[in-house]
Amino acid sequence: MLIIANWKSQKTNADVAQWLKQLHQELPHTVIVCPSFVHLSQAKQLIAAEQMNLQLGAQDISAYGQGAYTGEVNGTQLREYVSYVIIGHSERRTLLHESDTIVAQKVVQAKKYQLEPIFCIQDAHTPIPEGVSIVAYEPPNAIGTGTPDTPENAAAVANAVKTTAPHAQVLYGGSVNAENVASFTAKESLDGVLVGGASLDPVQFLKLIHNA
Ligand code: PGA
Repeated sequence: MLIIANWKSQKTNADVAQWLKQLHQELPHTVIVCPSFVHLSQAKQLIAAEQMNLQLGAQDISAYGQGAYTGEVNGTQLREYVSYVIIGHSERRTLLHESDTIVAQKVVQAKKYQLEPIFCIQDAHTPIPEGVSIVAYEPPNAIGTGTPDTPENAAAVANAVKTTAPHAQVLYGGSVNAENVASFTAKESLDGVLVGGASLDPVQFLKLIHNA
């Protein structure tokens, strides 16, 4: 089972150190934390120094390689810090106008640098590029609203994804919290959860991990 924390554009250096300190314990599942780019170096150092059982992911990757791309962070740079990268989150598709073409280009870049894409789909019809083996189903109206999709519908979408990508792990994301997580992880076709808001507080997130 995979549990992924997506911190989005939140936390300071001090918050990150504090959060990691509180997560320093035996965890029953694979947990991937995705901080902002600026916190990756610090997080990597702390995780290594404390020999913590946590994986690191980035929240985005440049659709281009190294070069004259102001503001972009590319795969060569990211692989010094992370093994995973979230691609195609609906916030980026909507606010930053990322198209299916751009997100497919990002998947190519991730694979080129041996980063595992965590590819977000908004429904069963979102195109999934070749080479993706972790898919996160995140209906936009469930994100940050406190109103998750039903576990039954999430499981149905996961099943639909698995008919075309049988080897993919499929996660659910959107208003997952410590109280409702087990209703999703209990579903046969769901292999974990992608958690935004409920991953920010370490005590709540630990509760979520154990309840999953
Ligand atoms: P949420 O966000 O858990 O705050 O709803 C999930 C996500 O956007 O990945």
